[in-house]
Amino acid sequence: MKLTYLGQSAFHVHTKDTDLIFDPMISQNPLAAKINISTLESDYILLSHGHGDHVADAETLAKQSNSKIISNYEIVTWYEQKGIAGHPMNLGGKYHFEFGTVKYVHGVHSSMLPDGSYGGASGGFVVWNDEISFYFAGDTALTMDMKLIPMTCPALDFAILPIGDNFTMGYEDALIASEFIDCKKIIGCHYDTFGYIKIDHAAAISHFKQAGKELILLNIGNSIEL
Ligand code: NI
Ligand code: MN
Repeated sequence: MKLTYLGQSAFHVHTKDTDLIFDPMISQNPLAAKINISTLESDYILLSHGHGDHVADAETLAKQSNSKIISNYEIVTWYEQKGIAGHPMNLGGKYHFEFGTVKYVHGVHSSMLPDGSYGGASGGFVVWNDEISFYFAGDTALTMDMKLIPMTCPALDFAILPIGDNFTMGYEDALIASEFIDCKKIIGCHYDTFGYIKIDHAAAISHFKQAGKELILLNIGNSIEL
């Protein structure tokens, strides 16, 4: 599969001939100015929760590709009222899509949609198929519930964890999270976009390295094969 970083918590994943976009906030992110959202294809848009820094471009991207939103019931219902199709889930549930299985898992965070509507609980996703298994944590604190992931899902090849602190885990807690989920390869997100979450990249990377783990900080617009 191919993973492309689009800034903040936004990622594009290509797996099994399917394009997935996670938590798109691109056009409002000055750090992602070189990303042209009109070229971003999606079959599904996965939204961890309703905050603007995760959903800002979801409507535009869903309409331009006629894609479906996968999120919790409250968020999917809100987008359905805008004429966008979706697949509603709730915490702890999984569903077998044609591209793989998606489990919507607990995040410890708040949620509200951009117009103030109730956004339901905040979550993350574990996605797996016969080529890959990964965890996209969304916005979350470190939580013991992460220990349920290796107990209930296939072994993870990598995980995308927030590391910017202040609104979510910082990189120190993300290292503990990587132990809880039993995963050695971590891709950082939710850092540097605003002042509150600016981090020292070298310190974060070396913190993981000292524990025998890998923290990957992708440049915005760059892709890796996993
Ligand atoms: Ni948030
Ligand atoms: Mn956020």
